[in-house]
Amino acid sequence: MSPTTTSTSDTFKGWVAHNATSPLTFTTFTPKPFKATDIEVSVSHCGICGTDIHTLRSGWGPADYPCVVGHEIIGTVVRVGSGVSTLASPAASWEIRVGDRVGIGAQSMSCLRADCEACADGQENYCPRITGTYNARYGDKSKAYGGFAERWRGPAHFAFRIPDSLPSAEAAPLLCGGVTVFAPLRKYGAGPGKSVGIVGIGGLGHLGILFARALGCDRVVAISRTLSKKKDAIEGLGADAFITTDEDKNWARAHSRSLDLIICTVDAADMPLTQYLRLLKVDGTFVQVGAPEKPLPQLTAWSLIQKGVKVTGSNIGSPEDIRQMLRLAAEKRVLPWIQKRPMEDVNATLADMDAGKARYRYNRTVSDFNSRNCRIRRTCSVGNRISELDNRPIRNAEHPAARRTRTLRRQHIHGAGKDSPPSQRIEIGNHPGELDDQAFRYRGCSQLSDAGFR
Ligand SMILES: NC(=O)c1ccc[n+]([C@@H]2O[C@H](COP(=O)([O-])OP(=O)(O)OC[C@H]3O[C@@H](n4cnc5c(N)ncnc54)[C@H](OP(=O)(O)O)[C@@H]3O)[C@@H](O)[C@H]2O)c1
Ligand SMILES: [Zn+2]
Ligand SMILES: [Zn+2]
Repeated sequence: MSPTTTSTSDTFKGWVAHNATSPLTFTTFTPKPFKATDIEVSVSHCGICGTDIHTLRSGWGPADYPCVVGHEIIGTVVRVGSGVSTLASPAASWEIRVGDRVGIGAQSMSCLRADCEACADGQENYCPRITGTYNARYGDKSKAYGGFAERWRGPAHFAFRIPDSLPSAEAAPLLCGGVTVFAPLRKYGAGPGKSVGIVGIGGLGHLGILFARALGCDRVVAISRTLSKKKDAIEGLGADAFITTDEDKNWARAHSRSLDLIICTVDAADMPLTQYLRLLKVDGTFVQVGAPEKPLPQLTAWSLIQKGVKVTGSNIGSPEDIRQMLRLAAEKRVLPWIQKRPMEDVNATLADMDAGKARYRYNRTVSDFNSRNCRIRRTCSVGNRISELDNRPIRNAEHPAARRTRTLRRQHIHGAGKDSPPSQRIEIGNHPGELDDQAFRYRGCSQLSDAGFR
């Protein structure tokens, strides 16, 4: 077994969609072939994004079934390809090691060619050969499968180490929802002196308010259809004002020319687009990030001409955007509002999400499932229970002496003497999902390997 490998199975299990109407079923699927520049992750959490719903029902066109959605993935690295440490990537992905906690968002690959204008410019999210995390194909035509699964496998370039201060459940929605609002906010100058409007207070929208605040905007305005989310937006998320577009007939006139920038997360085509543009100041920018299944409403030329406004769109974020977003989230404590739902409820959770019931992001916790198995597996072959100590994370930054002590303790628990050869040293995981996996793998002491030890 390679020293950077704790997993070799080429069959994964996950919640698979077989067509646009049947419920997801928990079954096996075959991930992409493992390449030298890939990693494999034991998934602990995965957010549910509006895009999952559009894709599952083939809303934007026929999906490539069987399909495993989920692109707000958090998990623990269990396998690192031999070429990852040599990546010439500015993404720092070459630093990823077994045991690291990482996140994967909505993009799993781009062409990464030097002659690709987008990739060479660090805008992989606009590469013409972009590979989404699911419902997409890699260059070798193998299918990309997402995070509604026990495992994710894919290129290290699009996996990101999660700052220690961000809990996994809260970090998950940042990987797609977070960066999708953060990237245009930053690109179009959200910050001190600016008034920003966020339209649609759902998964993306509530993160839009949080990030606009974190970026230091003077004024953040939540724009929603009804009053039902006003208290959350103002008292909880920190918006300065709240506009209701269905319940206040005069809203567009009353608030005209008040905003420098609008981020629109609405995912239905029947939105009052002309009125949204009325809210912009001269030279203001309207960025559409929501992706309705039908064409946007028509505009008259005067909506653009009268104030010289710009109407544009934005696609997720680049790897560099994701890293900056994670840093800001860690620094300013940008924590999504999440509702944890067990993975067994995935079909009911998807229906609730589709009905607009999420407040504001559902998060499927695979770790619930894994930890249930852990209770069975947390006994090693010599009958010693793995103590709570062994659940504590081992950080890369931990003092070498402390790391060694804890490693030896683990060896003891597993019956391997402190003089065991390196191939018999073990570390039991950083996170619940990994603990489960490694405890299972290492339950026979005679089969210990140096996998996971570093
Ligand atoms: N551009 C990208 O890269 C990117 C990335 C991720 C997701 N997306 C897309 O972004 C959209 C939103 O995703 P999400 O996860 O945030 O979904 P979500 O949680 O369901 O939020 C969507 C929000 O849109 C508003 N809305 C829904 N129907 C509306 C209507 N008929 N008129 C006006 N507003 C309406 C609602 O806000 P109120 O109740 O406040 O009105 C709702 O909370 C989806 O289309 C998704 O595919 C795009
Ligand atoms: Zn998404
Ligand atoms: Zn490219």
